[in-house]
Amino acid sequence: MEPAPFPVARPRRLRRTAALRAALRETTLVPSQLVAPLFVKEGIPGPQPVASMPGVAQHTLDSLRLEAKELRAAGVTSFLLFGVPAHKDAQGSAAWDDSGPVQTALRALRDDHGGDVVLIADTCLDEYTDHGHCGPLRPDGTVDNDAANAAYGRAAVSQAAAGADLVAPSGMMDGQVAAIRAALDAAGHGEGAGIMAYCTKYASALYGPFRDAAECAPQFGDRSSYQMDPGNAEEGVREALADVAEGADVLLVKPAAAYLDVIARVKAATGMPLAAYHVSGEYAMVHAAAERGWIDGDRVMAETLLGIRRAGADLVITYAAGWLARRLQP
Ligand code: PBG
Repeated sequence: MEPAPFPVARPRRLRRTAALRAALRETTLVPSQLVAPLFVKEGIPGPQPVASMPGVAQHTLDSLRLEAKELRAAGVTSFLLFGVPAHKDAQGSAAWDDSGPVQTALRALRDDHGGDVVLIADTCLDEYTDHGHCGPLRPDGTVDNDAANAAYGRAAVSQAAAGADLVAPSGMMDGQVAAIRAALDAAGHGEGAGIMAYCTKYASALYGPFRDAAECAPQFGDRSSYQMDPGNAEEGVREALADVAEGADVLLVKPAAAYLDVIARVKAATGMPLAAYHVSGEYAMVHAAAERGWIDGDRVMAETLLGIRRAGADLVITYAAGWLARRLQP
């Protein structure tokens, strides 16, 4: 072959060895950037595996504490807590019960780990209402936005008092961040608990397995009058900017892998700390295909989670947090 008349770019020079590739990798995903979602359920004798989410269980308080210790040993230090109460009612009142499942878990984990872990509490009502919607209902069956916000405020104050570093409203009510911020400030948590706001959460078919784990499937209808339409990215950015104006400390996009463009746009538009939630269905799909031998599940999971980081997420919320952290250990 004739030598090129002028130097040509040869990107493959930098792909020659594993050491070169590692040295020049732009995106990294390390255990401190992972958040493990954890489910704690009242009134069960032992941990109950969730069939559609291999490796995930509904925990008792004791098994939760053990799981958190194991995660921390692997380097995962952020936990997102969901509670499944023994009793549900129309208002979802267990959500603001100071001895509710999440509040009790927060106190226990704070006791075990002090300030060495980041404790994030899901602040929503769907796990607590008997109808499974994210707020109290009006007589016509629609969710009452402002009544939901008032309840989120009460729940957030109770979670902050129990030791939450961040409360994470996931209900997609209008004005939920402002309502929670005002409630926290009024209760003396102005300098403590921050808000990780699900600013851009889609009405997705990918939440199915979670609804088994959190026992929160809507008993009628769906969530498309409060969660976002999957076709909308501009609106996702507007929702994010609104939450910043209302006082959000961290933003959250969900689902993640099917919404990488939204992650990138929200990050570019706000410059805020950003979390993305690789949700239950996204996790389950990888496991299901791997079980059939159709994909290499480990590699697909690692590649997907790295892609979420590359799109612009600072934090990746994933059911694979412990697995990935162990895999990353030298
Ligand atoms: C609602 C909530 C949901 C998830 C997190 N918070 C379910 C929903 O909106 O129906 C889903 C998470 C997942 O699928 O992993 N509080």
